[in-house]
Amino acid sequence: MNELNNVYVSQHPLIGEKLSNLRSITTSSKLFRDLVAELTSLLVYEATSDLKTTPVSIDTPLEKMTGSKIAEEISIVPILRAGLGMVDSALNIIPSAKVWHIGVKRDESSLKPIEYYVNKPNIAKITTCIILDPMLATGGSLSAVCSILKSWDVHNIRYIGLLASPEGVQRLQDDHPDVKLFIANIDSHLDENGYIVPGLGDAGDRQFGTT
Ligand code: PRP
Ligand code: URA
Repeated sequence: MNELNNVYVSQHPLIGEKLSNLRSITTSSKLFRDLVAELTSLLVYEATSDLKTTPVSIDTPLEKMTGSKIAEEISIVPILRAGLGMVDSALNIIPSAKVWHIGVKRDESSLKPIEYYVNKPNIAKITTCIILDPMLATGGSLSAVCSILKSWDVHNIRYIGLLASPEGVQRLQDDHPDVKLFIANIDSHLDENGYIVPGLGDAGDRQFGTT
């Protein structure tokens, strides 16, 4: 991954090819969902390479040895609704993770985020949060979710997304410079409706077959 100021952009050829297929207007909802899941698996793998581990003693069929296990409590935080399509593949890779749902919808004319489902979970231990949302456009939705998590005293936050705009990345760096962003690609710009260009259209609608 290419890193600059807590922003990691994938250079992986598999991610590049899957992202190209995802963008295409001819991609069906079924294939779109499959590609979102596959891209999420690859990005979760890249975004978790620095998780803390602790030694664990195991017996192989041949002898005793010291292995390792993840030492951090991890919570996956999908932003409803488009982030839902990323949950299963993240959970497959991190099966012990909890899932905290947060609903944020951006108002189509003002482009401001509207929080519609925020239910504080029981947080027993300090947690690493991985926010999932395919699109980082103006950055309003992601910034709002980071603020919610921080208000719950969660400060180790990373984000996994598929496409970002330069404007959205800048907004996050201004509002939450401590949050690490793992993104498949940063596109050219936002259009007058707040859509990422060239982008892929509306990630929620394309996953769930709505318009
Ligand atoms: C999309 C996307 C992000 C948000 C990004 O969701 O999944 O959550 O827009 O835009 P922003 O960076 O300008 O805030 P949307 O609000 O369309 O809701 P949906 O997931 O229900 O489709
Ligand atoms: N939300 C999307 O789904 N797509 C965009 O391009 C911008 C916001």
